[in-house]
Amino acid sequence: MSVSRFPVRILGIDTSCDDTGVGIVELAPDGSARVLANRVWSQTVHAQYGGVMPELASREHVERIDRVTGDALAEAGLEVNDLEAVAATSGPGLVGALLVGLMYGKGLAQALGVPFYAAHHLEGHIFAAASEADLKAPYLALVVSGGHTHLFDVPREGEYVLVGATRDDAAGEAFDKIARLAGLGYPGGPAISEAALRGAPDAVPFKEPLQGQKGFDFSFSGLKTAALLAHKAGAKPEDLAAGFERAAVRFLVKTTLRAAQACGRETVVVSGGVAANRALREAFAASGVRAVFPGKDLNTDNGAMIALAGAAAIRAGREPSALSEGAVAYAPLANA
Ligand SMILES: Nc1ncnc2c1ncn2[C@@H]1O[C@H](COP(=O)(O)OP(=O)(O)OP(=O)(O)O)[C@@H](O)[C@H]1O
Ligand SMILES: [Mg+2]
Repeated sequence: MSVSRFPVRILGIDTSCDDTGVGIVELAPDGSARVLANRVWSQTVHAQYGGVMPELASREHVERIDRVTGDALAEAGLEVNDLEAVAATSGPGLVGALLVGLMYGKGLAQALGVPFYAAHHLEGHIFAAASEADLKAPYLALVVSGGHTHLFDVPREGEYVLVGATRDDAAGEAFDKIARLAGLGYPGGPAISEAALRGAPDAVPFKEPLQGQKGFDFSFSGLKTAALLAHKAGAKPEDLAAGFERAAVRFLVKTTLRAAQACGRETVVVSGGVAANRALREAFAASGVRAVFPGKDLNTDNGAMIALAGAAAIRAGREPSALSEGAVAYAPLANA
């Protein structure tokens, strides 16, 4: 079963963690994709536990998915019968949570008689940038999220070569932990960003991580330790935020630019929750490289990015997924 008429309206679902995301994308005959709707229900039940409770996440997805899908269809001004394809995240993520979106997506595709595409969560994050630009390989992709800080070289469509990754925390995780330490709240990224505007970046010394490395790895444990020591010595939260944000941004940009040069890539795609960071966007804009970021509300987990990954699969002529496709907790994207 494949798509035979254009424009193709693809519904995308992401339930990999604690956000129930459903989005709709329209793929035009010229290959361009446009986001028609993007609805995310962010679960709040986990706040009292200080971390995501997998079983509760699954149950909340079950309760919400139908309503979020209805809201996305209403936002796009479409009926369910207007859909020509369905995509859903199959991994990586919490298996119980993934299964909700995956089974719902397969069921919907089956009921409508349209093709179904299982999507990789990180491929979704990368394709979120296709909302802003025609994303064509080759390019370098920096995925900076709550669970990943990965650099992929993408020499051809669908081919991902891992060129660097974090040795300890993910960038978003470091923002979250330092925000918690400084009493700035959760999620830490936006809280740090906002506090940093009021702080002095030179007040707390943050050393550049992995100085002199030949490769393109990341590490945030040194910045975390520096923040902890400064906090114990009485540093102001806004100064901690300003110093950490500047150091993290400089490190991310410098490493990415070195990798782009080594791989001979002129375009860099920056995606994942941390790609929402204002200072990071400004630093890439000033760097001279062609940096492409996801559109508004498409940085953190959402369904539209999965619909965009589905659109890319259709555009590349990929076969739809088998309905036997399962959910996987661990699924490396790199295939080389
Ligand atoms: N403005 C911002 N600046 C920095 N970090 C941010 C900003 N906005 C969000 N973040 C961070 O993004 C992270 C969430 O991103 P995302 O939803 O992509 O991650 P995830 O889905 O939890 O992880 P993964 O995709 O790796 O499984 C959080 O750690 C949050 O602090
Ligand atoms: Mg994510």
